[in-house]
Amino acid sequence: MTVVVLGSVNRDVVCEVSRLPSPGETVLASGTRTNLGGKGSNQAVAAAKAGALVEFVARIGEDPDPSLRKSLCEYGVGIEAVREVPGARTGTAYITVAAGENQIVVDPGANFHWETEAELDASVAAELIATAGVVVAQLEVPVRVVAWAAGRARRFILNAAPARELPTDLLHRCDPLIVNESELATFTGTAVTSPRDAFDQARLLCARGVPAVVATLGAAGSVWVRRAGATVIGGYQPAPEIRSADSTGAGDAYVGALATALAESDDLPAGVAFATAAAALAVQSPGTHAAYPTRDRITAALATLPPAARLD
Ligand code: RIB
Repeated sequence: MTVVVLGSVNRDVVCEVSRLPSPGETVLASGTRTNLGGKGSNQAVAAAKAGALVEFVARIGEDPDPSLRKSLCEYGVGIEAVREVPGARTGTAYITVAAGENQIVVDPGANFHWETEAELDASVAAELIATAGVVVAQLEVPVRVVAWAAGRARRFILNAAPARELPTDLLHRCDPLIVNESELATFTGTAVTSPRDAFDQARLLCARGVPAVVATLGAAGSVWVRRAGATVIGGYQPAPEIRSADSTGAGDAYVGALATALAESDDLPAGVAFATAAAALAVQSPGTHAAYPTRDRITAALATLPPAARLD
């Protein structure tokens, strides 16, 4: 079944430093590189490499890097619904990486230039979304466009990154809502300091009407919760111990792999295990698209995962 990813494309300008600067501080970089990124394109490539048939819905500038379309196609991502916006520039992300951690500032550019709802309804994207097994979006594009896609998807997954306030009816369509610790705290107003906290807060969101929630906790793994009739069930998948070379886009590797798994089978704990293995492999190499693992590597890495546990 097809996975449609609706989301951003950025040129990532990545600076490597020995430590992240404090506010007001200047640090010298040991090197700079530029690569293709954006949460949308990252998730599309991650899903394609994980084995899904992927169509990407995105907006790029009039200045597209000639390698942009070619690179997405080479990874097997369908680009029929990737459109150029006259007068706009492709989004740019300024990323600082130090010792496996990162800081990111995004100038969205074309990612924030979309047509009206009526125009979107008449576009090729509308048909792709309506027929996809799974539709995935993030929040580097306008919420109204995300809500438009959610309203037309058979199964909708939202990676609420970067976090912002969302309409209740959109939250009620997220199956699952995927958030990291800080994004989860934005929705619940409470800091997350342990998998147990994440579980309790995810359960709170389910009680408020979100069908399912997955909370990613970096090296600590991830927690899933979903409604099952009148009750809520959940579990914890620890991550394997690995040395992280670059965590940039690791969350996107996770989301792309989880979407792939859920397009194949409605088994959330199995999907979370598959996504955990994918993200653990992704952080071991620098960058995003090139660092994402193929399906064979993810499947082999499943054997290295610590056992999962049910939580209640
Ligand atoms: O999630 C990582 C991505 O966030 C980067 O590729 C950057 O473009 C920003 O969108």
